Amino acid sequence: MFRKSCGISSHIPRWLPSIWRPFSSTLRDVIDLRSDTVTKPSESMRAAIARSEVGDDVKDEDTTVKRLENHVAGLLGKEAALFVPTGTMGNLLCLAAHCQRGDEVICGDASHIYNWEAGGASVLMGIVLRSIPNQADGTLDLNQIKGVAWPDDFHCARTKVVALENSHNQMGGRSLTADYVDAVGAICGAQGLQLHIDGARLLNAAVQQAVSPSKLVQSAASVSLCLSKGLGAPVGSVVAGTEEHIHRVRRLRKMVGGGMRQAGVLAEAGLIALEENTPQLAQDHLNAAKLASGLASISGVHIDPSVVETNILHFTLAEGKCSAEELIRRLELRGVLISEGYSGRELRAVTHLGVTSGDIDKVLDYVHEILLEQPRATGGEDNPSDPQQSTGTAVVRVQV
Ligand SMILES: Cc1ncc(COP(=O)(O)O)c(C=O)c1O
Repeated sequence: MFRKSCGISSHIPRWLPSIWRPFSSTLRDVIDLRSDTVTKPSESMRAAIARSEVGDDVKDEDTTVKRLENHVAGLLGKEAALFVPTGTMGNLLCLAAHCQRGDEVICGDASHIYNWEAGGASVLMGIVLRSIPNQADGTLDLNQIKGVAWPDDFHCARTKVVALENSHNQMGGRSLTADYVDAVGAICGAQGLQLHIDGARLLNAAVQQAVSPSKLVQSAASVSLCLSKGLGAPVGSVVAGTEEHIHRVRRLRKMVGGGMRQAGVLAEAGLIALEENTPQLAQDHLNAAKLASGLASISGVHIDPSVVETNILHFTLAEGKCSAEELIRRLELRGVLISEGYSGRELRAVTHLGVTSGDIDKVLDYVHEILLEQPRATGGEDNPSDPQQSTGTAVVRVQV
């Protein structure tokens, strides 16, 4: 089934020793829905990288990095911006620039900062992370934020920052509106707190709501934007804020080893990503919506398509159908990669520029076919232990 559908069996040498077969997975026409981080640089991006002007960025001499930073500062309506290697580092440095050791950051209990950044803010910067519940739409309850800052009392950490995430990864790509963000900003202001936005997928939120990215972050003191997710750059994030904030972040970036030299090759990719791939995000959202409504029509799949706002969707399988793990394994045999969700029987799929509407049709056919079949433990064309059929890609449990 897999070989027939992908039409590539002739490219995989039968004589390849089984130990090498996992590497042949790169030859296969895989539909990879594990994350938008799997996107690869386009031909035009690679060509632009080859032509890019570079200099020593730690000495402030890389004109391409400067172009990217100026561009993103403008896009986000901030005074200044700084190129950093990853979204994790962007969040870390922004929080550290707002805090002293022993200060406290409030974040959602389902936020990337709280769950998926190795506790770096605490480990490396001495910041206390305090979580409050994320609601299903990715927001934090405004009433909870109202009284969140500890009083000036030597028993308590000094509350300094509230961090939001837009779009919200773990909450299924839900996007926060400008009105909501501004309301949080006003509550923060009243308590003397800074608002940081983890905008790894901010442009997904902006495209989905048809608003400018700057409007979504107008109340934020700092923002971190990833170029290497749905935008398709190979590496990089940009943080933005006031001149003073970015000055502090630059020092901290050096401290954690994030000062890069001829980084223009990466910045050029980021500029192309913003220019060429931002419009693609709308198609990614359409593909996610199509996948969600198609899945909803398959008996045994539970999903509410109305909550799929951007490019991330979560679904579960009814009791008595195959397990989440088994569906992942059987899809993998057909050349489709998805990942487990964050709890129990949940599964997660993410659309991106490497996935077409036609791919979504195929995925829906496969899910339908698998859920109609009786699970087969061994043998037959669905035998996952057959290395010629497996893509060799491990099931992913950590979602980014
Ligand atoms: C919401 C969010 N913030 C931050 C990050 C961290 O980005 P990076 O993987 O570049 O460190 C991710 C990664 O997926 C993310 O989803």
